[in-house]
Amino acid sequence: MNVAEATLAILAELKRQRAAGKREVFVEEESLFALAKLFGNVVPEQVGMNEVAPKPIQKEVKKPGFAPVTEKVPEVIAFEKKTLSSDFPSLPEIKLPDGDKAYQWSSLKEKVMGCEVCNRELNPQGKVVFGVGDLDADIFFCGEAPGADEEKAGEPFVGPAGELLNRIIEAMGISRDAVYIGNILNWRPRHDQAFGNRPPTKKEMSFCLPYLKAQIKIVKPKVLVALGKTATDGLLGHDPKRRLSDFRGKWNQVMDIPMMVTYHPSYLLHNPSKSSKRKVWDDMLLVMEKLEMKISEKQRAFFNS
Ligand code: URA
Ligand code: URA
Repeated sequence: MNVAEATLAILAELKRQRAAGKREVFVEEESLFALAKLFGNVVPEQVGMNEVAPKPIQKEVKKPGFAPVTEKVPEVIAFEKKTLSSDFPSLPEIKLPDGDKAYQWSSLKEKVMGCEVCNRELNPQGKVVFGVGDLDADIFFCGEAPGADEEKAGEPFVGPAGELLNRIIEAMGISRDAVYIGNILNWRPRHDQAFGNRPPTKKEMSFCLPYLKAQIKIVKPKVLVALGKTATDGLLGHDPKRRLSDFRGKWNQVMDIPMMVTYHPSYLLHNPSKSSKRKVWDDMLLVMEKLEMKISEKQRAFFNS
């Protein structure tokens, strides 16, 4: 994308936000500097958009014949960051109703779709996103949280990361409908930037975890695959010392189910080197071996040369 295209994209986004009723935008200081540099010698102070609201100034006004009175000068409107919710109740472990998997799954889905907190957290046009797939799947892939495409569609992994995940699944010789795909979070984390995603907070993650665990309990897969750091931290508990580069490619145990940790497809989209792809593929080969799936020589050699 060149500067002109980027500017047009920003303009389109600002217009969209204005149409949606938004009247102020927050711009990081860094971005203002970068923009100022890009467009000549305007210094950020002159741009003047990024100030914190000053305290109302008490200005002395002299009025003839009267003692000086203080007049309130109108307050500068702050470019406020959308505040994040901090009150996430802790959900008890979810009791699944008696019945078959399909019945348990639909009643859980209904619960999630009606979940007050999940709905409260949604973006204006966003939907709550619940897991999809085969309830008898051997493999349960767990991602992080819906992105822009997913919140629109109400389905996990349908954007670019989802397309890559589909290709990984197909390379394993199966199809997307034959696995189960879920996320740690049921909604797209709100943030103030026009583009990109915010990783979920620990509070958001622990709120949603019982919903994910209930899906794992219903599907009872033979293998779980944690896609990326958030999924890993969500399912194994946060460990500040954990580095995915050391941790991936290893088996863990979650709810008595073997869990493979690998990189997130989005990570591959940003780091599309053959060696990153081969690492994820090595991890998928381990999954296939665990499930005693047939592996061809051609499959073994993917991203190898
Ligand atoms: N990334 C995720 O982690 N989950 C999705 O559903 C989409 C993108
Ligand atoms: N770091 C992450 O958080 N996720 C990945 O998939 C890779 C590196």
